[in-house]
Amino acid sequence: MADFSSEQATQQIRALFPAFGEKSLNEMAFFENAGGSYMCSCSLELLENYLRKTRVQPYGAFAASIAGGKAMDRSFRRIAQALNIESDWIHFGPSTSMNTYVLSHAFAPLLRAGDAIIVTNQDHEANSGVWRRLAGQGVEIREWQADPESGHLDPNDLASLLDERTRLVAFPHVSNIVGEINPATGICRMIRAAGALSIVDGVSYCPHGLPDLGHINPDIYLFSAYKTFGPHIGVMAIRPSLAASLPNQGHYFNDHKPRYRLTPAGPDHAQIAAMAGIADYLERISDMLDQTGTGKSSRTGNDADNANDASNDDEHFRRAHDAIRTRETALMQPLLDWIGSRPEMRLIGPQTPSQRMPTLALDLKTPGPELARRLARHGIMAGGGHFYAHRLLERLGIDPEHGVLRLSFVHYTSHNDITRLINALNRELGA
Ligand SMILES: Cc1ncc(COP(=O)(O)O)c(C=O)c1O
Repeated sequence: MADFSSEQATQQIRALFPAFGEKSLNEMAFFENAGGSYMCSCSLELLENYLRKTRVQPYGAFAASIAGGKAMDRSFRRIAQALNIESDWIHFGPSTSMNTYVLSHAFAPLLRAGDAIIVTNQDHEANSGVWRRLAGQGVEIREWQADPESGHLDPNDLASLLDERTRLVAFPHVSNIVGEINPATGICRMIRAAGALSIVDGVSYCPHGLPDLGHINPDIYLFSAYKTFGPHIGVMAIRPSLAASLPNQGHYFNDHKPRYRLTPAGPDHAQIAAMAGIADYLERISDMLDQTGTGKSSRTGNDADNANDASNDDEHFRRAHDAIRTRETALMQPLLDWIGSRPEMRLIGPQTPSQRMPTLALDLKTPGPELARRLARHGIMAGGGHFYAHRLLERLGIDPEHGVLRLSFVHYTSHNDITRLINALNRELGA
């Protein structure tokens, strides 16, 4: 493929998302991807295959059960490969909110009165409230505060909060409102140098290309697969030595099984099996870039064994990541230009596409939810509200009930969608 930003590329990408074959969806332009993205066919096929052929208790003695267990194991391997870490880092829970909830309960008995935890007011509540609640047992909570105008989190402010009493720092790789890419590698390094542990919310980063965790080197990294083209699963990557040091949150007799200790809810087996589809999909993107991709990859599908998986290097995922970023950056520019020409609205976060993800929150006189409703009449699916970043909106001087209008897109969005959105906004707000 000559150009991953081209219309031809849009068609090839969309062919891998069954939602674009649905008339009711396809006649609208989708700008609420940060709430939940369309599922890629690779995941959908694995999900269906599991439900049709191996919907029995996995890891048993008979063929369907053995195949089901293998399909699940493949997902641990493939997601780890895509993140450039070993598969013993990976835990699959029901959601990121549930994963942080369980983690906070696991850390609680290890923390003493006088220990400190740093949280931000830029985060979604999922990576904030569960840590703040530990104040009830005498832990000091320090808030790393976002800039009240731009929403920016300054790493220099973190430096002044860190000391020898700091045990944990919870922060977002990208906020679901500000959209700015926080320099996670440097932040994790600072946290480690202070002797503390990093807990990074990657939910708003991962739909824009899975990150290289081998490079970022967090202690814990979380994301939600239902926003990353996969099933409703929360992914928790935890340094294996740290996971082993946390008290078991599952059944006592499973204490010796690392994957059972921090996911007491026992998430849906079929959805775990479907997780590998995200990695398969990203490899198809890499194939497309090679111009040799035929649209059918030998590595995808329902083969539970890893015999057909790519070599163990993660080069495909880094290439897919970079191509997605470049495509989304190009898509963002006209919309950011249009926003910049409208003095009546405040864009939260950077104006420069290279500094941010395409999750664009606008502070307007019209309440966010009302404008989202009006846009729906023009064929635009967008969202309005506080998006569980309640503390951030308060910090920005926006009444959370008034909310922001959030326009969020991913790499399957087209230039035509962006034009439709701008036309619809012009019609509602006056050109
Ligand atoms: C940035 C961010 N973090 C965490 C969450 C919570 O994820 P989940 O819905 O999987 O609990 C969300 C969900 O919207 C989010 O946007």
